[in-house]
Amino acid sequence: MDLVLVGLPGSGKSAVGRRLAARHDAAFIDLDAQIESAAGRSVAAIFADEGEPGFRARERDAVRALGGPSAERGLTRVVATGGGAPVDIRNRWRLYRGRTVVWLDGTPEALAGRLRRSPNPRPLVAGPDPVGTIRRLSADRERFYAAGHRVDGVAPVGAVVGAVEAILAREPRGGTLLSVADTRIGRFVLGEGIGWAVADEIRRAGGRRAILVSEPGAWAAFGEAISGWASGAGLAVERVDLPQGEAAKTLRVVETAARQLARSRVERGEPIVAIGGGALGDAAGFLAATYLRGVPVIHVPTTLVAQIDSSIGGKTAVDLPEGKNLVGAFHQPAAVIIDVMALRTLPERQRRAALGEAVKMAAIGDERLFELLEAEGPAIARGDADAFDRGAAAEVVERAGWAKVAVVLADERELGGPAEAGGTAAAGRLALNLGHSIGHAVEAAGGYGALLHGEAVAYGLRAACRIGLEIGVTPPARAARIDGLLDQLELGRDRLPYPIDLVREHLGADKKHAGGRLRWVLPTTDGVVLRADVPGSVVDGAIASLLGGADLAPTGAEAGRR
Ligand SMILES: NC(=O)c1ccc[n+]([C@@H]2O[C@H](COP(=O)([O-])OP(=O)(O)OC[C@H]3O[C@@H](n4cnc5c(N)ncnc54)[C@H](O)[C@@H]3O)[C@@H](O)[C@H]2O)c1
Repeated sequence: MDLVLVGLPGSGKSAVGRRLAARHDAAFIDLDAQIESAAGRSVAAIFADEGEPGFRARERDAVRALGGPSAERGLTRVVATGGGAPVDIRNRWRLYRGRTVVWLDGTPEALAGRLRRSPNPRPLVAGPDPVGTIRRLSADRERFYAAGHRVDGVAPVGAVVGAVEAILAREPRGGTLLSVADTRIGRFVLGEGIGWAVADEIRRAGGRRAILVSEPGAWAAFGEAISGWASGAGLAVERVDLPQGEAAKTLRVVETAARQLARSRVERGEPIVAIGGGALGDAAGFLAATYLRGVPVIHVPTTLVAQIDSSIGGKTAVDLPEGKNLVGAFHQPAAVIIDVMALRTLPERQRRAALGEAVKMAAIGDERLFELLEAEGPAIARGDADAFDRGAAAEVVERAGWAKVAVVLADERELGGPAEAGGTAAAGRLALNLGHSIGHAVEAAGGYGALLHGEAVAYGLRAACRIGLEIGVTPPARAARIDGLLDQLELGRDRLPYPIDLVREHLGADKKHAGGRLRWVLPTTDGVVLRADVPGSVVDGAIASLLGGADLAPTGAEAGRR
């Protein structure tokens, strides 16, 4: 077996790793030392010559050079990583799979004190506020370290070694945890093959039984396995079955489910677990928001839409005959357990469509996500096993999902910034509406049955690029890149057979109006900007560019339609 030690500088990875390797007659690998010997230069010299990107590329090479985990039962290798290595999910995917990961933790004060006394000069503590620097670093990295078993690294070395040995003696739980983030909008647990985490989170949220709310499709693909894990962990399982797909999102369904909870005497404070896609999550989330005026909900999203979008942010809703999502509540989950394994069984169209949302997250401002989708998006859409085995699907889920977490954290209740204000940060949660105004309009024009949401968003993104180009906020190269990626993903390519008036009508009904004027989210060089001054003629031109058939001519600008 291999052991990987992660943690901030000063947490004792080298000292503890050396001691453990010596005690078990195992090899000790210091990743930074490997990088230095491969480069023939010190880490500091690599940073000076090649900058951080150069160092990180070498670090990825060093992780790759480790190869696969050892299959032997006893401890064979101890790997001490540089503090920043686990930040890149490509490294975590290689380092954490099949290995025992231990996070050596310590308070910023204790770590700063250690670094100050260290014989090696540490630039990290050279500034005026070393504790503040370490605290910031810790806030950025903790979720990557927290996928490992936490051990107090500032205890005496002998005690740390003992604690790590106790962990090594335990039976591994299988699967791979990739990140664990405790946030104001829930605890986010990401990994592959981590069904066992559900029982942990139920107990953490105060539950003593597993109340699993699901629907037949998600149950067959994933719910049944979760049920097995939960009962294996000693929890009694109760199942609440909702209808499959959008049919779950009605008040009648919520009433029936609430009555079942009442008959089962579910009490306030008892968590329910929502296992399924966005439709199931919206309905079960609303059930949790309203039953007994609110019980905790743990989301186990099983579709790509749910993993990168609907399970994050606390929006829950059901539909009315008058429209979608008209009755709902904000209800933040206790936890969201995202297992990318679930995506392997998803129908291809579902995966492909959801990548439309991932393109949106990239366009909002994640360059690496852009590159990743360009390189791996088509393979993920097809469901190529290799793309999953390489970790590409996990990286898309982590990046797109975390981008949404970050936006929601900055603007939990969708207040947004002032229209016309610059930049993605000022747009707040409204940034997430990129591609959604016209996206919703074409989705509604098709009666919600013709296009999947992500497919509609792809049309909306193309239209937003066109509007941005026309009014001069989207550089041509950026628009071409977004269009090119959507082409590669085969999204939003066919012209839609709807009359332009119908799409306009639905655009007018879009609820994201501010004082009657639509606030457009438009792509810029590397993010988005909000604009409320888009002429109707420009909007008409953008809509017309998506449509085919008889009714193509835009009818010109109209103030009321802006
Ligand atoms: N709350 C939000 O912020 C938010 C955001 C975006 C979308 N939504 C809502 O999400 C809904 C769409 O979600 P969706 O696209 O996930 O659709 P969905 O929940 O209807 O699931 C799609 C289909 O996939 C099946 N399925 C689920 N998991 C599976 C798996 N692992 N393997 C095989 N099949 C599986 C389901 O049975 C269903 O037939 C809409 O109602 C939309 O309004 C909500």
